[in-house]
Amino acid sequence: MSVLDLARPEIRAMQPYSSARMEASGGEVFLNANESAWAPVGDDGLGCNRYPEPQPAALVDALAALYGVRRQQLLVGRGSDEAIDLLVRAFCHAGRDAILIQPPTFGMYAVCARVQDAGIVEVPLGTDATLDVDAMLAALTSAVKLVFICTPNNPTGQPVPRTDVERLARALAGRALLVVDEAYVEFADEGSVVDLIDRYDNLAVLRTLSKAWALAGVRIGSLLANAEVIALLRRIMAPYPLPLPSVDAALLALSGWGQANAREHLAVVRAERTRMHEALHRLPGVRDVLPSQANFLAVRFDDAGAAYRRLLAAGIVVRDVRRYPNLGDALRITIGTPAENGRVLAVLQETNP
Ligand SMILES: Cc1ncc(COP(=O)(O)O)c(C=O)c1O
Repeated sequence: MSVLDLARPEIRAMQPYSSARMEASGGEVFLNANESAWAPVGDDGLGCNRYPEPQPAALVDALAALYGVRRQQLLVGRGSDEAIDLLVRAFCHAGRDAILIQPPTFGMYAVCARVQDAGIVEVPLGTDATLDVDAMLAALTSAVKLVFICTPNNPTGQPVPRTDVERLARALAGRALLVVDEAYVEFADEGSVVDLIDRYDNLAVLRTLSKAWALAGVRIGSLLANAEVIALLRRIMAPYPLPLPSVDAALLALSGWGQANAREHLAVVRAERTRMHEALHRLPGVRDVLPSQANFLAVRFDDAGAAYRRLLAAGIVVRDVRRYPNLGDALRITIGTPAENGRVLAVLQETNP
């Protein structure tokens, strides 16, 4: 059985849009895409009067090298959000199929499922915020086509052990695609599971340049998966998803200079995460700080609402996650610069004299 048998047959069968860029090969005078012949003001040689490559070769190569996959195993899009949406649309038949998630987790899996009118099977994380593989497998129905796991998980921060990922991938073979969202993996001690995509054709990994690579505003994310899955998603992706300035910014971030810069900030975030974890723990009014392998901490307060308001009054915006299951007393605080983190501590210290 091919993993593509899990996808919507009509997507496999449809004739995809063929863009001018896809059809062109060679040539020097381009009169095939109804573009302007003139570059816009301030273009500086970028060529924004032309449509960009659908999957820019230089960026695909740089990302494939970074993540250790072959170029055919990588799809680059507008943040990993786009890949989540494409997966749901390609694998879930509206009104019939479903995804499986473990709340509290990243909200876009459920949003994309709702937009597609796919069902959502929820298997809550344990009270210690760890994944319960047995419960997930017990909840699996034939409608579930995609299982999302997030490691480290947003908003709790815990990683999923590699052994759990492997166990799930094996158990889901022929039944569902396992999507491992590694948006925060660069901050974690445990590495990526991307090497497993060669072993399990029903395993897909999401990565992004929005977090450790400091490019949230540029919108570049990748899906790493079996080449057939990547080819399938390209059939339904917008023809020109990646703006030229974004591609340029991503290539700069992935250069030697950019990588050194990212590594430097990564070290600061990891050190600050430890410092903040310890300092927050000591504050009266703080009930608990969940252990985190990401660039944020989920913090339980005696009165999270009051803590949120105090921080906001001091100009500090954190994420109120009280609506998430099991986090009714928590705020999620991103690790900022040492000075910003110091301000958070100072305000919370004042709150609890
Ligand atoms: C777990 C997780 N996955 C994916 C995303 C989306 O990232 P991107 O900016 O690549 O769309 C986020 C953003 O916060 C996230 O927390």
